[in-house]
Amino acid sequence: MTVAKSIADRLDDYVNVETGELDRRIFSDEEIFELEMEHIFGRAWLFLCHESQIPKRGDFFEAPMGRDNVLVVRQRDGSIKALLNTCAHRGNAVCRADEGNVKNFMCTYHGWTYDLAGELVGVPGMKDFYNDELDKTKYPLKRVAQLDVYKGFVFATMDPEAPKLADFLGPMGRISLDTIAERGNIQVVPGIQKFVLKTNWKFPVDNTFDFYHPQITHISAQAVGMMPSSPDNIDAGGAKTPEGTKLGVQRLPTDLDTLVLLAEYGHAISGPSWKAMLSTLPPEYQGLFAWRDRPEAVAALGPVGLQVAGHPHIFPNSWLTVDAQLSLRIPRSVDTTEVWWFTFNNLDDSPEDQRAHVGRAIHAFGPAGFLEQEDGENWSQSAMQTRGGAARDVPQLLKMGLGRGKIIHEDGLARIEAPVNEHAQLWTYLAWKEWLKRPSWDELRRKTTPGDCI
Ligand code: FES
Ligand SMILES: [Fe+2]
Repeated sequence: MTVAKSIADRLDDYVNVETGELDRRIFSDEEIFELEMEHIFGRAWLFLCHESQIPKRGDFFEAPMGRDNVLVVRQRDGSIKALLNTCAHRGNAVCRADEGNVKNFMCTYHGWTYDLAGELVGVPGMKDFYNDELDKTKYPLKRVAQLDVYKGFVFATMDPEAPKLADFLGPMGRISLDTIAERGNIQVVPGIQKFVLKTNWKFPVDNTFDFYHPQITHISAQAVGMMPSSPDNIDAGGAKTPEGTKLGVQRLPTDLDTLVLLAEYGHAISGPSWKAMLSTLPPEYQGLFAWRDRPEAVAALGPVGLQVAGHPHIFPNSWLTVDAQLSLRIPRSVDTTEVWWFTFNNLDDSPEDQRAHVGRAIHAFGPAGFLEQEDGENWSQSAMQTRGGAARDVPQLLKMGLGRGKIIHEDGLARIEAPVNEHAQLWTYLAWKEWLKRPSWDELRRKTTPGDCI
């Protein structure tokens, strides 16, 4: 008699790092989604918000932690707490606003009221209906297990056993956040952009490191002059950009110098190296990166970090862009993903530069973003087309550069220098698989420590 393997036993088959093949069920299986919620989003340190969003006491911001929602609240003493937005009575939200300033939180169902620290301070009918017998001290709003801040970036975890935030981030996670934090006097532009995509959250995460798709997916962006188009392009039927450049599929830059960093717990950075990025940018963009000359930035990023111009990703779902934005890909169900965009301005920049930055941000990403609309179509179609009974038996491929990613260990970082590749995607799925096995934190760290090659 054959016994069906449990999902935990099948994880090594689902992500085969030797062959570069994935089982497509990981994008549509409800049971796997539940494991992700418990073992990844229930344990990892997750980005909640930036301190500049809650400067005054009573300021709050509602942030996602997987399917949970927490109220990140500035306390009277200046500290920060994160409280689950669910009433201890019957579970209703105690706050319906995305952000704001309050003296307390009153549930809109029966009126139970909580102070800024989440303590239950008011129960209507305490004497008449409860005979003064309800012990209010027993029913506070549940708090996250740990909360910490790195250079203004607020993170929390639901796991009391999780390592300290600085250890979870490690040098690579800290460099990722430094690419925004070290620009100067940064703060979040008010108004977080939020929208819903019908896709599994791992498709957008995978795409974070994908420098193979822009030539095709973003051909419309080339057509309107938003992305560079070259006369060497492969012809696309005579179409031209507004400037008269022949439009076509950009030839793949086979010699594109890319830099991949891999790190413990599944963090990764991948994309063009700084040198390659600068060579592709028109002169008017070169000044955007002057902040990298600041002595504080040089010290924080270090020699390898200063070469990074690709896409940093803090496992499991935080992507930081080269233009000072942070994107969360929030799993709400196996095929429903919310995408949130935080845009950071440097208050030391001129008002014109700050406005221009916000304009670029809205134009590229978020619900009105040209690039993200093109990407979002791919992610939704990929989710829909891989979940069919026959389609899900077709393996998902990650074979580019497979086995050729020689890892260089230097300055406490693990890096690969190579042409366009899929190493960071494979690394992310490898880590994902290890998280789902729910090892101890020490074992997880060991299993996700980069070796010599991928
Ligand atoms: S559910 Fe909140 S007061 Fe009843
Ligand atoms: Fe894209």
